[in-house]
This record gives sequence, structure tokens and C-alpha cells, in this order.
Amino acid sequence: MVATGEYAAELRGIAKRYADIVAVDYIDLDIKYGEILGLLGPNGSGKSTTLKIILGLVKPDSGSMKVLGINAEEDPVAIKRLVGYVPESPRLYEFLTGLEYLDFTGDIYGINASDKKTRIEEYLEALDLEGREGDMISSYSQGMKQKIALISAFLHKPKLLILDEPLNALDPKSARIVKDLLRELAAKGVTAILSTHVLEIAQAMCDRIAILYEGRILALGNMEELRKKAQLPGSNLEDVFLKLTGTGAIKEIVEALLK
Ligand SMILES: Nc1ncnc2c1ncn2[C@@H]1O[C@H](COP(=O)(O)OP(=O)(O)O)[C@@H](O)[C@H]1O
Ligand SMILES: [Mg+2]
Repeated sequence: MVATGEYAAELRGIAKRYADIVAVDYIDLDIKYGEILGLLGPNGSGKSTTLKIILGLVKPDSGSMKVLGINAEEDPVAIKRLVGYVPESPRLYEFLTGLEYLDFTGDIYGINASDKKTRIEEYLEALDLEGREGDMISSYSQGMKQKIALISAFLHKPKLLILDEPLNALDPKSARIVKDLLRELAAKGVTAILSTHVLEIAQAMCDRIAILYEGRILALGNMEELRKKAQLPGSNLEDVFLKLTGTGAIKEIVEALLK
């Protein structure tokens, strides 16, 4: 079952437009096994569309792609089996309890009953949902719903995690647990591609960061490489980001507003 190939995902010339909106503009991207790659960019820069293309939810207009060594056009279902996905705004079945929902997700992925029970219990405990699993999802806070979405993505031990703004609505402790968990999984060879518009999250969580702007990758690398590219030695990601996306004027605007 373990996929072959050098990269967990290989994108070549991937493009997608919606009428005259260019969502993704000819992206080439190689993601290594065990890597945590961040897609960082402002709203509308094409992060979610790129993630949906990798998962196979959105068909690109052009380009080719291999995910976990599998050609996306030949066997899209095989890819989905091996991937865990958390969408930007997870839509859960609100009238199930958290436990029923996770049980249902586990069954879809064909996890055997005892593994399913153990894993669900462990995750509920780790993310402080113990005691609330019998309540209906409609009664959960946004952060609790996000936790259920994350658990359902992790449950079948996917080889690749596609996480769209994964720390959305999470309290700091849970965000930390998710971060640590991703690190541990990465050490075991699990690959994660996550999107965020929060610079600190990308900086803290990712091995490499792709800075997206208007559907294009402006820069790709680890922090050191990105700093070099922006020619800002010793700077933080915010400076690099603002410089690369040509939005350096934002600082002046904010300063003017505060006067
Ligand atoms: N289903 C869709 N229909 C029309 N336009 C879309 C659709 N999905 C995304 N877009 C557009 O594509 C661009 C990129 O969107 P998205 O990938 O969601 O960006 P991000 O996740 O970086 O905020 C935006 O201009 C968005 O409005
Ligand atoms: Mg998005």
C-alpha cells in the first residue's frame, strides 16, 4: 500500500481558472515524503484551490500531477484513500454526536472496530473533547467542530495530510497539540501540506513555505532561503512576505492610520 516515487506530491504546470478569475497560475511543486509544507498567502491567492486540486476535488484546467506516486488521472480514488483532508470550513453532520460522526468516518475508511475505538478515544482525550463526545455536533463551539474535523482526517492513518487552515478556531493548547502531532507524524514519514494566512503559523510549523500570490508561487524554501530571496537577512517572515508580495506599503498605511 505504501506509495512509491520520490515525492509525496509532484505538480507540473497546474492551472485553474474560474471564468476570468485565475485561481492557480501554472504551479510546479515537489513535496518530499515526511515534509510539512506550508502554503502561505493572502486571501484569494489560490491556497484552497491548490489543496483541492491535490486532493482531486477540483480538476485542473491543465498540468499533470502525481500524488503518493499515483497518477491523479489514472486512479483518483486510490489517492483519496491514502489522504486525510480538513477543508477550510468543515461541514459536519450537525445532528450526529461527535462520537457517532467519528465512528461513521472510521467505517468509511474501513478501520477495524477495535483500532477505531482506541484511536477515537485517544484523540478525544488528546484534544480535550472527552466527556463531550456524546453531545450533538450542533451544540459544539467552532473550535470543537474543528477538532472533530481534524480527528476524522487523522483517524485512518493517512500518508498525506491536506489541511486547509488547520488551526482555525483552535485554542492555543489544542493548536500546540496539533502542531506537535504533525511533527511526530512527519518523523514517521507522513507528509503534510497546509495552508495558512497566518505568518507565525507557517514559520512555526513548516519545513518549507511556498509563498502564493495571485495563483503563483513567488518564493519557496525554508526560512533561511526565503530571507535570502527577499534580501532581508535576520528578518522575520512578515517582512519577507510583505516584501515578496509587494505589499510593503501596508506598514505605512497602518502607521498613517494610527497617527
Ligand atoms: N468555486 C469557485 N468559483 C469561482 N471562483 C472561485 C472558486 N473557488 C475559488 N475561486 C476564486 O479563486 C481565487 C482563489 O481562491 P482560493 O483558492 O479559495 O484562495 P485562498 O484559499 O488563498 O484564499 C479567488 O479569487 C476565488 O474567488
Ligand atoms: Mg482558502
